[in-house]
Amino acid sequence: KIIILDFGSQTTQLIGRRVRELNTYCEIIPYNKFPFGDTDVKGVILSGSPFSVNDKEAFKTDLSQIRKKYPVLGICYGAQFMAYSSGGEVTRSNTREYGRARLHVKDVSDELLGNIAEQSQVWMSHGDSILSVPADFKAVASTEDVPIAAYKVAGEKTWGVQFHPEVFHTQEGTRILDNFLSICGCKKDWTPASFIETTVQQLKEQLGDDKVILALSGGVDSSVTAVLLNRAIGKNLTCIFVDHGLLRKNEFETVLQNYEHLGLNVIGIDAKDRFYKELSGVTDPERKRKIIGKNFIDVFDEEAHKLTHIKWLAQGTIYPDIIESLSITGTTIKSHHNVGGLPEKMNLKLCEPLRLLFKDEVRKIGLELGMKPDLIFRHPFPGPGLGIRILGDITPEKVRIAQEADHIFISHLRTVGLYDKVWQAGAILLPVQSVGVMGDERTYENTVALRAVTSTDAMTADWAHLPYEFLAKVSNEIINKVKGVNRVVYDISSKPPATIEWE
Ligand code: XMP
Repeated sequence: KIIILDFGSQTTQLIGRRVRELNTYCEIIPYNKFPFGDTDVKGVILSGSPFSVNDKEAFKTDLSQIRKKYPVLGICYGAQFMAYSSGGEVTRSNTREYGRARLHVKDVSDELLGNIAEQSQVWMSHGDSILSVPADFKAVASTEDVPIAAYKVAGEKTWGVQFHPEVFHTQEGTRILDNFLSICGCKKDWTPASFIETTVQQLKEQLGDDKVILALSGGVDSSVTAVLLNRAIGKNLTCIFVDHGLLRKNEFETVLQNYEHLGLNVIGIDAKDRFYKELSGVTDPERKRKIIGKNFIDVFDEEAHKLTHIKWLAQGTIYPDIIESLSITGTTIKSHHNVGGLPEKMNLKLCEPLRLLFKDEVRKIGLELGMKPDLIFRHPFPGPGLGIRILGDITPEKVRIAQEADHIFISHLRTVGLYDKVWQAGAILLPVQSVGVMGDERTYENTVALRAVTSTDAMTADWAHLPYEFLAKVSNEIINKVKGVNRVVYDISSKPPATIEWE
C-alpha cells in the first residue's frame, strides 16, 4: 500500500483516487501520524498544503526515518517542505505560478520523469518557490518560470515536484504517478475484486463472532456495506430498514424485496404513524429535520434493544462524508455519520468498511458483488426523504401527492433514458395554491415543482436542461392523474446560490 501524508491540501483526496485508479491500495493519513509499524507500506506521497513552509502554523513533521526507508514523492508543499527541512531555501517570490506551465525534463534517465514528453503541460498552484536546494538534491525538471520544478535526492528514492500530477490538467500526471508506483514496487493488482477479498477477510478478523447491526436506507452506500458484511459474517448481521412514511412511492416494499433477494437478514419497521404524529403541524425546516432524525434514532434504538448481544454498529460512511479534513485539525478524523447521533446514543463500536472510498468506487464494488445496476445507480435521496420536499407541514395526504408526482416524473425519466443523465431528480410539493380551470370548474389546488440537476459530487450543481417536450408530458400527466395538483413548474436554479433540496 501507499501512504499519503496529508498536509491539508484540497487535492489530497484526488491523489488517493488516482493511486487507486492505478490499481494500488492507498491510505490517507494525517501528516504527523505515519504508521511506522505497518509492514505493508511500499511508498509515501506527501500532499500539498494551504500553508507556506515559512508560516508559523505550517504543518511540520520529521521525515528522516521515512525518507531512509521508503520511496517518497513530495507534491507542491510536500516538495517544498523536504527541500526546506534539509536546508534549502523556499520563499514567496516573483516566480510563483498558477495554472498551466510546460515542463522541461533535464534528466531523461530519471525514473520518475524520464519518459515525460518535452513541454508536457503541468498544472501549478503555488505562491512559494524553491530557490535553492541542498547539494544532494538534483533539479531534474524546470519550467519557464521555475528552475527547480522537480528534484531528486541523490542516494535516496526521494523526489519532489512543484506541480500537481494528480489534477486532470497535468497531461501526463497519471504516468508520473504510475512511474512512482513502479519505483515503489507496487504490484498494481488492487481491483474491486481484491478490495472485496481483503475487506471481507479484515471484517472476519475484526468482528469474529460478534453481532452487528446496520441501518439500511435503500441507497447504494448502506446497501453495499450490508452485502460486504453479509459475505463476511452472514447471519450475525442484522439490518434494520425504517419506513418513516417519507419514502418514495412503493419504496419500502421494493427495497425490502431487493434486500431479501440479496440474502440479507432485514427487519422492516413500519413507523409511519409515529413520524406523522410527531411532525403534525410543524413547518420550520430545521425542526422537521430534527424531529425526523431524533425519531429515526429512537425507532432504531428500540429495535436494536430487542436483539441481544449486539456489539457493533455498521455504517455506509464514505470518504466525502468525512467532513473535517484530517490534517487541518492535525489530529483525528471526525466522521460524518449517515445516521447522525446514532453511535453516541447506542454505545456500540463503529464499523465503516467503505470509509476510504468515493461513490463511484463504491458503485464498482457493488457491481462486482453482483448487485443489480438498478440499486447501484440510484439517485441520491436525502435521509429525511419527502419530509424536506414537502414545504410547510406534513400530512399523509401531502405525502401521497408528493409520492405520486415524484413517481410520474422518475418513471418518465427512466422511460426516455434520461434517468442516468441526471444526478438527482424529484418533485417538491409547494405550500402554494393557485387558481386553475378543469372542465367547466374552477379549481384552487397545489403546485408541484420539478427539480432535476446535474452534478459530480452534489457540492455544486446545475439544473438539468430537460427537453420542453419531456417536461410537457410530465406536467400533463401529473395534473391529469394526481388529485390535488393543478400547476407544475420547473426549477431553473443552480447550486450555488440555490441548493439541490428546497429545505
Ligand atoms: P443540498 O440540498 O444541500 O443537498 O444541495 C446536497 C445533497 O445532499 C442531499 N441531502 C441530504 N442527504 N440527509 C441526507 O442523507 C440530509 O439531511 C440531506 N439533505 C440534503 C441532497 O439530496 C443532495 O444529494
